[in-house]
Amino acid sequence: MKRSSILLIANFLLIAALAGCSVKQQYQADRLITKGLKDYYKDYFPIGVAVGPQTLKGDEAELLLREFNSITAENAMKMGPIHPRENEYFWRDADSIVNFAQKHGLRVRGHNLLWHEQAPEWMFKDSQGNQVSRDVLLARLKDHIYTVVKRYKGKIYAWDVVNEAIDDNPDDFLRKTKWLEIIGEDFIAKAFQFAHEADPDALLFYNDYNTERPEKRDRIYTLLKQLVDAKVPIHGVGLQAHWSIFEPTEKELREAIEKYSSLGLQIHFTEVDMSVYPWEKERRAKRSGENDQLTPELEQKQIAQYKMVFDIFREYRKHITSVTFWNVSDRYTWLDTYPVSGRKNYPLLFDTKLERKKAYWEVVNFKK
Ligand code: GLA
Repeated sequence: MKRSSILLIANFLLIAALAGCSVKQQYQADRLITKGLKDYYKDYFPIGVAVGPQTLKGDEAELLLREFNSITAENAMKMGPIHPRENEYFWRDADSIVNFAQKHGLRVRGHNLLWHEQAPEWMFKDSQGNQVSRDVLLARLKDHIYTVVKRYKGKIYAWDVVNEAIDDNPDDFLRKTKWLEIIGEDFIAKAFQFAHEADPDALLFYNDYNTERPEKRDRIYTLLKQLVDAKVPIHGVGLQAHWSIFEPTEKELREAIEKYSSLGLQIHFTEVDMSVYPWEKERRAKRSGENDQLTPELEQKQIAQYKMVFDIFREYRKHITSVTFWNVSDRYTWLDTYPVSGRKNYPLLFDTKLERKKAYWEVVNFKK
């Protein structure tokens, strides 16, 4: 019998056995199952995860290689961290992520080339501290994008070129940022043009959040349509999918996928997590007495929401060409500090011990 068939049968027996075990036995059995998300979804789309250099060793790396076949740098490739001063790049962390991917045959999504957050101050100022002109900022942007994209040409297959350019206020269109103020509205098209010149083979994405809320969805659609109509080199839209047990609804998710893909764009779900709390815009501290336990009710809601969104992902596989989670497990998630600092969140498919959660099994148990 082939090794793969033996492993398959062993996995099946383990999964069957898990149902009747004690929690401790379950944990031990869980570790022995070698099949991962990427294997269940091999006929659908790659399954990725956001990482930092710390994820590339120890038990997290083991989990990563078992479950995922694509990675995104959580922070290491953003403009501020990678280009801290005008004539200085910091490559160590980004290189370690790309080298790890090369070594293990993982895809890499590049994230991101232009954003209003984590952008370095120096980018917008001259040596006297005055705001630079449109020409200077465009030249700096081009230099940045050329340098970063060319370094990883052939190793990064897709880039989030522009992140979060649409305003939160439904009555506004583009977000009021230094990029818009200094360059003007064509900063978006320019960024795509520079990225395409630097690596004509890379797939280029516009990436944003709350992309299923009808009012924001329609403004993002308008922007994407303008870019497509103007023949800007854009290949897809990244839907961040920082979701919760409260949103999106199935209807909103379907409508968003159908609307964006009607433009002929690929869809990547780029930053999937499922908060157990409602969305809050303003940052705040945890209130005294505020519960932050994963109660059975919250867990059930999360299981149902994860099942719903993956059912939809599979249904729209023709348009969806990547799904990436934002962090590996509930051991560490950016949602532990955002938007409420000190409030534990449980948004992923693996728990704080790196074991598969019940929601995991809902996501992988499906009929082809
Ligand atoms: C946004 C960005 C990501 C990351 C998250 C928080 O979604 O696109 O790069 O910063 O916020 O981790």
